[in-house]
Amino acid sequence: MRRAIITGGASGLGLATARMLRDRGDQVVVLDIAAPPDDLAFCQTDVGDDNSVRQAVLDAVTQMGGLDIVVNSAAISSVGDVTANTDDQWATTLNVNVTGIARVCREADPHLRQGKAPVIVNIASVASVTGLAQRVLYSATKGAVLAMTLAMATDYLPTGIRVNAVAPGTADTPWVGRLLAAASDPQQARIALEARQPIGRLITAEEVAFAVGYLTDERAGSTTGTVLMVDGGLHSLLPPR
Ligand SMILES: NC(=O)c1ccc[n+]([C@@H]2O[C@H](COP(=O)([O-])OP(=O)(O)OC[C@H]3O[C@@H](n4cnc5c(N)ncnc54)[C@H](O)[C@@H]3O)[C@@H](O)[C@H]2O)c1
Repeated sequence: MRRAIITGGASGLGLATARMLRDRGDQVVVLDIAAPPDDLAFCQTDVGDDNSVRQAVLDAVTQMGGLDIVVNSAAISSVGDVTANTDDQWATTLNVNVTGIARVCREADPHLRQGKAPVIVNIASVASVTGLAQRVLYSATKGAVLAMTLAMATDYLPTGIRVNAVAPGTADTPWVGRLLAAASDPQQARIALEARQPIGRLITAEEVAFAVGYLTDERAGSTTGTVLMVDGGLHSLLPPR
């Protein structure tokens, strides 16, 4: 049995991942500002706050007796072109989506070094590599997640800690539900999002969890510095309209 912490594990992709890892026999603690459903173990955490992360990682590691797997899924959304956001909004979003990952990994580092087949998976996005409309700030954070994943994978080579990313396309989670609810015609907005996906539908949370499951599996020992696109072809395929 390996031991995992999952930020953002109370909802959407993080929750599906927490369930998948638990169901395959891993010990899981969710680090989130909100409590998860089910009876998943939980340490209330704001990844935007260093003290909160320090305490949560310590509590989770104490609870599990060590740490082998870190999944960074917590993030916040931001919509708009380059003129849309104030400096404060830039600072807040970068703090949660980018520095939050660094904070969690910094605290996890000494424990992972002692871990069994240790591995980190960061949830990036198709926005890391594709120019989506009205997503400048969000894309900046997800581009950074991709870049830091590769840099971390390099630094950790001598330690045996693997670092990879999963980059989902538009996934059917409460995150997208909130975006659709804010649209003038939510039903039409959903049809448009589905049509944007080359596979013609949204990604399921379980499909993303399955990718995280692969990357965190001990049998994926040669896979590091990889970005696994789970995007229905959004960044690479151009089917006829
Ligand atoms: N849903 C998509 O279409 C999509 C696509 C690409 C990438 N992603 C990425 O996937 C990840 C998960 O997204 P989701 O769709 O599951 O969203 P979600 O809103 O369903 O879940 C996000 C979780 O993160 C938690 N969270 C937010 N801020 C936090 C903080 N400061 N500290 C701790 N926890 C915090 C929330 O409470 C929530 O439980 C994010 O990194 C997102 O950028 C999502």
